[in-house]
Amino acid sequence: MYDVVIIGGGPGGYAAALYAHNFGLNVALVEKERVGGTCLLRGCIPAKSWLKTAEVYAHIKRAGEFGVNVGEPTLDWGAALERKNNIVDGLVRGLGGLLKARNVDVIDGYGRLAEGGVEVTTEDGQSRRLEAANVILATGSRARAIPGYEFDGNRVVSSDEALDWSERPQRVAIIGAGAIGSEFALILGSTGSEVHLFEMLDQVVPGAEPEAAKVLAREMKKKGITVRTGVGVGPAEVHDDRVVIPFEGDYVEVDKVLVAVGRAPVTEDVGLETTKVDVDRGFVEVDLNTMMTAEPNIYAVGDIVAGTPQLAHAGFAEGIAAITHIATGETAPVDYRAIPLVVYTDPEVATVGLTEARAREAGYEVEVHDHGMRGLGRAIIHGEVSGLVKIVSEKDGPILGATVVAPEAGELIHELMYAVAWEALPSEAAAFIHAHPTMSEAIGETLLAAAGRSLH
Ligand code: NAI
Repeated sequence: MYDVVIIGGGPGGYAAALYAHNFGLNVALVEKERVGGTCLLRGCIPAKSWLKTAEVYAHIKRAGEFGVNVGEPTLDWGAALERKNNIVDGLVRGLGGLLKARNVDVIDGYGRLAEGGVEVTTEDGQSRRLEAANVILATGSRARAIPGYEFDGNRVVSSDEALDWSERPQRVAIIGAGAIGSEFALILGSTGSEVHLFEMLDQVVPGAEPEAAKVLAREMKKKGITVRTGVGVGPAEVHDDRVVIPFEGDYVEVDKVLVAVGRAPVTEDVGLETTKVDVDRGFVEVDLNTMMTAEPNIYAVGDIVAGTPQLAHAGFAEGIAAITHIATGETAPVDYRAIPLVVYTDPEVATVGLTEARAREAGYEVEVHDHGMRGLGRAIIHGEVSGLVKIVSEKDGPILGATVVAPEAGELIHELMYAVAWEALPSEAAAFIHAHPTMSEAIGETLLAAAGRSLH
């Protein structure tokens, strides 16, 4: 009899399994593949490895600007793929070791909810019942397809396949300029592919601050990426040797199409039909104070949860919240107000809290301040001056949200995470001194302006 059986070994599931040791819970983690889930096996980690390759390549191409002569770099796609695989394998091994050290029983097989626990079916068709006082569902998501763009594993693919391309495709169309589409556009565009990025809505990274999207789109165009926003595509014509994508009376011809239009929850065939769990279009409804579903002692975390962001770090936090409730009966809800969202493009776009539009929608009277990086010493030294900082605060009130566009914006955003989470007034946050010269000074400058006393 386990205290907790977790179905799914991605960030939501493995975080729950690891955290359970704090309370001495007896835990089993059921996983049909390797542990790691989308993020580690075919998401965040491998994508960032490819982005690093693209970044190094792009930097070396610019080396002459910095007085370093190295000649024209060439790209060894196979070596980059191998490095990516080694990084993933190393982290999977590390995670396996950690789970073992925490006495988590990792059970190979396919898990389904069953009376009193979880039924696990192994590849050879054998099944066994694990008795559990509590079950956490953490079955994750898969890439969504759209009509006219059915995945065929070759010409029309999701990020799953694109992360393992054995060579760089010459001509690629990417459908959707959200996080995945924008990151892949950068990987391929920076390394020399002809990239056509199609976004149905009127800006790249829809949902982000329009000023941030504008900078990103401009930088993409500078890298030769063709960005088409506000454009719908017709059904793809897939040929043996190419794909034709029609749009607005025109068309492009490419070797591969990457469809990145969002991810759907994986909740069919996990035994939910025999429970009281509420499911809305595949997403599981939970009490966000506890992560418990309508069925007592069945919890859900990660990408399958209705109404919460599909982010690995949101999954970690939800796993922790579920385990805390199981172990202590106390509620420790995730603070969704201040979860940073980072798109790892070049430059990166990082956001925390409310955007200006969201803050207005929520009924706030807002004040907005921004600061570009053109005059910033460190940015000039880096040769990266396209970025900006935007801070949204309530009129005469606390900071509600912020966006940073810069190289490493994903690191810089965290000081603003605290400002948003602690509901700091701009004047309180502006009271502290940023080191000079740093990229973070752009945040300090924006805070000063928000406090009504700008400097530069
Ligand atoms: P997404 O929801 O971020 O973006 C999908 C984009 O496709 C949207 O901009 C949408 O308007 C567009 N779209 C939808 N249908 C379209 C059509 N027919 N034609 C043209 N455009 C269309 O989804 P994405 O990028 O697939 O990522 C999936 C999930 O994974 C998201 O929740 C995302 O936040 C998460 N993720 C996060 C990353 C990060 O934090 N860096 C990286 C990768 C994924």
